[in-house]
Amino acid sequence: MKQKEILLFGASGQIGRNLIRKLTKNNYKITAVTRNIHRAGYILKTQANPGYLDLVELKSFESDKIDELMKNTSICINLIGILYEKKKGQFKLIHTDLPDMLSQKAKKHSIDKFVHLSALGIEVSKDSEYANSKLNGEKKIIRNFKNHIIIKPSIVYSVDDNFTTNFMSLLNILPIMPIYFNGNTKFTPIHVNDLVNVIYNLIEGQNKNLVIECVGPEVLTFKEIMQKLLNAIGKKRFLLPLPLPIAKLSAKILQLFPKPLLTEDQLNLLKYDNCKSGIYKTNYDLGFQAIRKFEEEIDKYSFNWRSGGQFAKDNNLEKTK
Ligand SMILES: NC(=O)c1ccc[n+]([C@@H]2O[C@H](COP(=O)([O-])OP(=O)(O)OC[C@H]3O[C@@H](n4cnc5c(N)ncnc54)[C@H](OP(=O)(O)O)[C@@H]3O)[C@@H](O)[C@H]2O)c1
Repeated sequence: MKQKEILLFGASGQIGRNLIRKLTKNNYKITAVTRNIHRAGYILKTQANPGYLDLVELKSFESDKIDELMKNTSICINLIGILYEKKKGQFKLIHTDLPDMLSQKAKKHSIDKFVHLSALGIEVSKDSEYANSKLNGEKKIIRNFKNHIIIKPSIVYSVDDNFTTNFMSLLNILPIMPIYFNGNTKFTPIHVNDLVNVIYNLIEGQNKNLVIECVGPEVLTFKEIMQKLLNAIGKKRFLLPLPLPIAKLSAKILQLFPKPLLTEDQLNLLKYDNCKSGIYKTNYDLGFQAIRKFEEEIDKYSFNWRSGGQFAKDNNLEKTK
């Protein structure tokens, strides 16, 4: 069977690494664009024979080089995203200008589909630059190219995420864990394999001109997520609700670090629930169920943070209530 060609931006991230395995296993040939071919080459794996994954290094988004790549593809997927700015204007560049440029080129080269990963809940969080830049990116794509599929996930988790794994590391070492907005903000976490299945089905199917929200099977508050992570690693910690002025001050300080744990912009985002909006269809409406439950999945890798490791007896764990 002839391979199908996909051009993938942001392949070396959490979603990209998992998506590549699914796509190559199913006979898609991927050209992955990365800023650092050596780092990406080290972490990217296929589930196919050699020849299904090409890496292309682009240090910046050079228009003529992207044209050349787009010419030879039928589907382009954009997974590039950032959680914080290293310099002013980066949110706009990455979340608005880049999808604008890619979707214009998708149209110019008459490709079959442009698939873009945006984010859930960004319509309401108007005081977040992250959210505004993502939303502006969506608007540009919708205006530029009708063969778009915009996917808006809630938090995506897995053994190789920056979310559950970072929090388990923090909960492991901190005696007290600060929580914001009393830990009441709601999320609908989706396991990366469930999300990848949705993306795969959307690529295979006839859907175009579509904006879809992707949520997992449960609604969990931030506090419930922390409690589940604590249970999984067998630790008891005090979850301390921080008053807003102190939370703001801590974000001001933390965002000075090279890889900040929290920024002021993220604190603004944390105010808003991250659940389906009712504005768009969800993966469930299209028949793509997310089947993986948060607690069951984190249990599969949380042993890395448990005292005694994978083979520690359960009765040694200090389960939290
Ligand atoms: N993970 C989640 O929980 C989640 C939730 C909602 C939405 N999303 C969205 O889904 C998409 C993929 O998420 P992810 O978690 O897989 O992303 P990720 O791991 O944070 O990063 C994706 C890729 O973006 C590229 N990138 C990062 N900073 C860049 C920069 N300054 N310039 C150019 N490229 C840069 C990197 O590729 P190279 O280093 O190879 O160049 C990186 O591997 C993003 O748009 C994200 O906003 C993710």
